[in-house]
Amino acid sequence: MRYLITGGAGFIGSNLSRFLLKKGHEIFVIDDLSTGFFENIKDLEQNKNFKFILDSILNIEILEQTIQKVDAIFHLAASVGVEYVINNPLKSIEINVQGTENVLKLAHRYNKKVLITSTSEIYGKNEKDALIETDDRILGSTTISRWSYSNTKALDEFLGLAYYHEKKLPLTIIRLFNTTGPGQVGDYGMVVPRFVKQALLGKPITIYGDGEQTRCFTHIDDVIKAIEIVMNEKKCEGQIFNIGNPDEHSINDLAAIIRKMTNSNSTIEHIPYEKAMGSNFEDMRRRVPDITKIKKYANWEPKLYLKEIIEDIIEYQKNGE
Ligand SMILES: NC(=O)c1ccc[n+]([C@@H]2O[C@H](COP(=O)([O-])OP(=O)(O)OC[C@H]3O[C@@H](n4cnc5c(N)ncnc54)[C@H](O)[C@@H]3O)[C@@H](O)[C@H]2O)c1
Repeated sequence: MRYLITGGAGFIGSNLSRFLLKKGHEIFVIDDLSTGFFENIKDLEQNKNFKFILDSILNIEILEQTIQKVDAIFHLAASVGVEYVINNPLKSIEINVQGTENVLKLAHRYNKKVLITSTSEIYGKNEKDALIETDDRILGSTTISRWSYSNTKALDEFLGLAYYHEKKLPLTIIRLFNTTGPGQVGDYGMVVPRFVKQALLGKPITIYGDGEQTRCFTHIDDVIKAIEIVMNEKKCEGQIFNIGNPDEHSINDLAAIIRKMTNSNSTIEHIPYEKAMGSNFEDMRRRVPDITKIKKYANWEPKLYLKEIIEDIIEYQKNGE
């Protein structure tokens, strides 16, 4: 098969590219390297089945030429990460809304299947035990810019579902919960690589807030497998799936585990949210996925847990990122 991966030089996209190339597929990547890195895909440049196009999904001509050549599209390009979105509010809205609309419009024109990567941010402040795909979205005020990410991705979902129902575009939506692993950088607020880096350097491990907030972490290898299965499973079309590992940890525990696993003597410090993220910030206490639906439709469940995630990130960072 020939696939377009938008955002294919990013953390998830580069891993997905490598995985699909190994399976003999042909991969086209469009990425403007706004948060992705050429280093992520440098090793793939030699592969005759890999083509990297340095451009934006806002460039409709390039996008159209590429979509015509492929069988299906993994749409990953987006402004990602709470810190990045807070610091680039206008750009984030434009890319996440206009960019997705471009992809869907052209996918429909040439009848190409699309997989949209949405996010657990969709659920906002809903902190129930385990979130199912039809649960309510509970969001803060529009004056708090982190919620724009949730809303732009929600608009992507609405658009996708509208194309599926009204135009019969084959399409699946996945909501990723904190995907992490080797290759991810901590620069945009991704907590696990950030803590590992601080611990390896012997610098203070900095926790935002009281650290009693909990999160669930999913290994990139598990996520890549889920993405492939969902794309190929006909009965997943028109559906939304949570993809995540329900194993829940407080950020205080995460910091302590990383400190121990890196044999670090870093101190663990708490920084008030106002200082770390500015006064206009709001966080959620917990976010846990219910993955019953994807187990039922695609027979997927995570195989790797926090210990493996941290081990792999330590190894990656020790080898010079
Ligand atoms: N990593 C996670 O935990 C997580 C969680 C929920 C959802 N997601 C979603 O998964 C997708 C991939 O995320 P990631 O973690 O790999 O982040 P990433 O930042 O590493 O990847 C995003 C890629 O999109 C590229 N990009 C941004 N704007 C672009 C544009 N206009 N044109 C072309 N390329 C552009 C970036 O350069 C980057 O390479 C995103 O859609 C994100 O919203 C990720």
